[in-house]
Amino acid sequence: MAAVTSEKVLSVTHWTDRLFSFRVARPASFRFRSGEFVMLGLEVEGKPLLRAYSIASPAWDDGLDFFSIKVEDGPLTSRLQSIQTGDEILLGKKSVGTLVLDALTPGRRLYLLSTGTGIAPFASVTRDPETYERFEQVVLVHACRQVAELEYGRRLVEALKDDPLVGELAADKLVYYPSCTREEFPRRGRITALMDSGQLFDEIGAPPLNPAEDRVMICGSMEMIADCRARVEAAGLKEGANSRPAEFVVEKSFVD
Ligand code: A2P
Repeated sequence: MAAVTSEKVLSVTHWTDRLFSFRVARPASFRFRSGEFVMLGLEVEGKPLLRAYSIASPAWDDGLDFFSIKVEDGPLTSRLQSIQTGDEILLGKKSVGTLVLDALTPGRRLYLLSTGTGIAPFASVTRDPETYERFEQVVLVHACRQVAELEYGRRLVEALKDDPLVGELAADKLVYYPSCTREEFPRRGRITALMDSGQLFDEIGAPPLNPAEDRVMICGSMEMIADCRARVEAAGLKEGANSRPAEFVVEKSFVD
């Protein structure tokens, strides 16, 4: 049995010259947990060319959303960025991943630390009612180079207010914390710098990161993950997995 199916593209949105998102039809049999990724791609010269993509839509949605970088000479994204509504893409049948609630032990506060397209899995996690059942506060941190790159997350959070399932819960518990590193914006600086200076914790009124209360999910580039991981570990949090839940989990969001 083939490991992929062919699915129709329902819509495509170009956010900047570096970022785009798209929605594909969801096969009736496709099940996933919020925060997981799936292999996705195109047939190139008769062969499937697939990369791991975080699912950016909630588990109850009819479609599957994805948020992608465009890399000019990237084998997949150079082609994927020109897909249009009605085109077909290849979609893996099975989803996996570590950025799932099941890999974390209970805590009070959940930090979702993301840069660039690393916000994609959190677009799923923040629309899952279970997230708000498990945590008193959910802090969505998103840092990007340019203001326009923050727009995807801003709209996500804006739409959450009217979400029939989690709207009220999110209004109560979700803190959206955007930052821009290369352009003027009300908040500036890398996530790591915002953690080091204590600005992040001061602004949301939380104590410094600690394993008694805090759980963390990290998604971004390899370097961002390494640097955030170092800080989270220095605060005493231990890495969790599906088979062994603990205090933080990481996943890279790098597609070429
Ligand atoms: P900066 O503008 O200072 O490089 P990218 O698009 O390259 O993935 O970057 C997305 C965001 O992540 C940018 O705001 C970038 O900041 C930031 N970033 C890059 N590397 C790191 C890192 N090692 N730790 C934390 N943030 C990082």
